[in-house]
Amino acid sequence: MPILCTKLIQAIPPVSRAIGGEVSLVDELTSVEHLLASDPLETLVVVGPDVDLDEALAFTAAQRLARPALGVVLLRDAFEVKVLALAIRAGVREVVPVSDLDLIAEACTRSLELSKATPAGLNLPIQQGVEGKVAVVFATKGGCGKTTTATNLAVALHAGGASRVCLVDLDLAFGDVAISLQLTPARTLVDALAMDGGLDETGVSGLLTRYRPGLDCVLAPVEPGDSEQIPASLITDLILVLRRMFDYVVVDTPPQFNEHVLAVLDEADHHVLLTTPDVPTLKNLRLTLDMLDMLSYPRDRRSIVLNREDPRVGLTVADVESVARTNVTARIPASLAVPASINRGVPITIESPDHAVSVAIKEIATRTIVGAKHEPPASKRGFLGLRRRSG
Ligand SMILES: Nc1ncnc2c1ncn2[C@@H]1O[C@H](COP(=O)(O)OP(=O)(O)OP(=O)(O)O)[C@@H](O)[C@H]1O
Ligand SMILES: [Mg+2]
Repeated sequence: MPILCTKLIQAIPPVSRAIGGEVSLVDELTSVEHLLASDPLETLVVVGPDVDLDEALAFTAAQRLARPALGVVLLRDAFEVKVLALAIRAGVREVVPVSDLDLIAEACTRSLELSKATPAGLNLPIQQGVEGKVAVVFATKGGCGKTTTATNLAVALHAGGASRVCLVDLDLAFGDVAISLQLTPARTLVDALAMDGGLDETGVSGLLTRYRPGLDCVLAPVEPGDSEQIPASLITDLILVLRRMFDYVVVDTPPQFNEHVLAVLDEADHHVLLTTPDVPTLKNLRLTLDMLDMLSYPRDRRSIVLNREDPRVGLTVADVESVARTNVTARIPASLAVPASINRGVPITIESPDHAVSVAIKEIATRTIVGAKHEPPASKRGFLGLRRRSG
């Protein structure tokens, strides 16, 4: 929500209305900085006429480098050419008299439009040397609930903005993340193909679609056939860059092993393996586990999650554990509230945070992903390691 910085009580209601919708109100620039730090994707700050000009300009100049997508609109009591020149030099988007509410509204709209055209991720300060954790949600049987689990895990890890999370749709041919979250796939992974010189933070920022402040998505291509153009090496590069930009990266997958999935299984700190309580899916779980063992992925980096658990279907947790030859890490109950939430385009963890399904998913997020160990790739290579050994 846009930030208004002023101590002028009488100016607050009309200016807030001119900005449009709700605003976060603060009375000094240090508080603006704190708010910006907690919301890396905020794109508008309106600075009141009572704020010292030099301080306002210094703040703007610093933000211009740190968060290029942030717009600062400066309000003054009267229009002065000298102030305008200094403001432009500092990077202020517009200087507007505080008395002209129409002009304030127009300036804010223009600034927000400009910010929208600036890739969302350009507002994400890079955490030098800090690497986020990567979790992949996988099953070789279609319809197990991978997309449902991945989207809700991303929401749970985001925790209302406490962490920065990126959800990657690696179901390149039939990705459902955009439709599940009601996002328009204006930018997708296929746009990465144009980045000849390799992926970096700026390039990856241009691929992101924002769901909530601090929760971004890399969406799957829309056109049939686009997925085949994407090399596995691009997925590896993408994950390496996203790790530097986000606290958590959650990857949704297609229901089969392919080179893209193997690339992400290699990079991930944790594998969330889904199953449902039916015989064909359990058979696939067994084959999946055998394959992962064969590829030397460490067993301590995987969780087995029983989704759509329902006592009426006849298969128990014990049955699942005997097929998996290991413990089930977590169980998500079957509930009609899940398809209902998907049909409304709102993840159940947002819509009904206290629902048993939401509670189960939040617990998976905390127990398995937040606590996952991130180790240098060399010690966890599975597929690529095997390929190196065999090649
Ligand atoms: N815990 C649950 N209770 C009830 N229904 C569920 C549950 N989890 C998932 N579903 C439903 O199962 C269906 C498949 O879920 P989802 O699309 O998440 O699976 P998927 O593994 O991503 O499928 P695909 O392999 O096609 O990508 C959806 O209709 C969803 O609403
Ligand atoms: Mg899916």
